[in-house]
Amino acid sequence: MLKFSKEELDTLDKIISSRRDIRGNNFIDKEVSNKKLKIILESALKAPSVGYSQPWHFKIVKSDKQKNKIYKNFKKSYIKSFKKFEDRPLYKKLKLEGIKESSVNVAVFYKKSHKEVLGQTYMKRSGEYSVVCAIHNMWLTARALNIGIGWVSIIKPKKIRKVLNVSNEYKLIGYLCIGYTKNFLDEPELKKVGWDKEKNLQDCILK
Ligand SMILES: Cc1cc2nc3c(=O)[nH]c(=O)nc-3n(C[C@H](O)[C@H](O)[C@H](O)COP(=O)(O)O)c2cc1C
Repeated sequence: MLKFSKEELDTLDKIISSRRDIRGNNFIDKEVSNKKLKIILESALKAPSVGYSQPWHFKIVKSDKQKNKIYKNFKKSYIKSFKKFEDRPLYKKLKLEGIKESSVNVAVFYKKSHKEVLGQTYMKRSGEYSVVCAIHNMWLTARALNIGIGWVSIIKPKKIRKVLNVSNEYKLIGYLCIGYTKNFLDEPELKKVGWDKEKNLQDCILK
């Protein structure tokens, strides 16, 4: 049985703790090689999945034309959501994506299996949760390669599928902007700017 040392546990903690969501105010103009992108994507395939269904699918987006279209959709959705945050003027000042500034974007989709999936009979969304596990593997692996990832969810999945020519059998789970960054902040940016406070373990334990 493979056993890990205390040093390796410390390294894992360092990677987990220093992972950040990277946005356009931090990405730099340096290409992520296909070799590095493959390492990131292959880490996704090692994620746990309900009934070993491995329901993840990836669309790699490098063309400026597609990125521009996706960015336009983000902008529209972002402006539309101003109303929801009327009482939080800070919202309008936040940079919440890095679609054009990042080297490569990856849209991550879930596809429902045609056969019954072990473990998914009662918790129908377990397949989607599995795709989130895959995304998190990518996020941590990228961090270990000193590459940043930013997750963008202020977009309309239907529009994104259309731009990327992906059929409606595939459900968009995450839209990721991947690239080198000038900085990995020591704390979440939304914490630093005072959007929300950090919870501690006690806050999260149900009594
Ligand atoms: C499901 C999901 C969706 C997110 N969507 C966005 C987004 O649309 N724009 C953005 O700037 N950050 C987005 N984030 C990043 C979070 O804001 C970020 O993870 C959080 O503020 C904590 O910061 P950290 O990831 O740097 O530790 C998303 C994160 C998750 C997990």
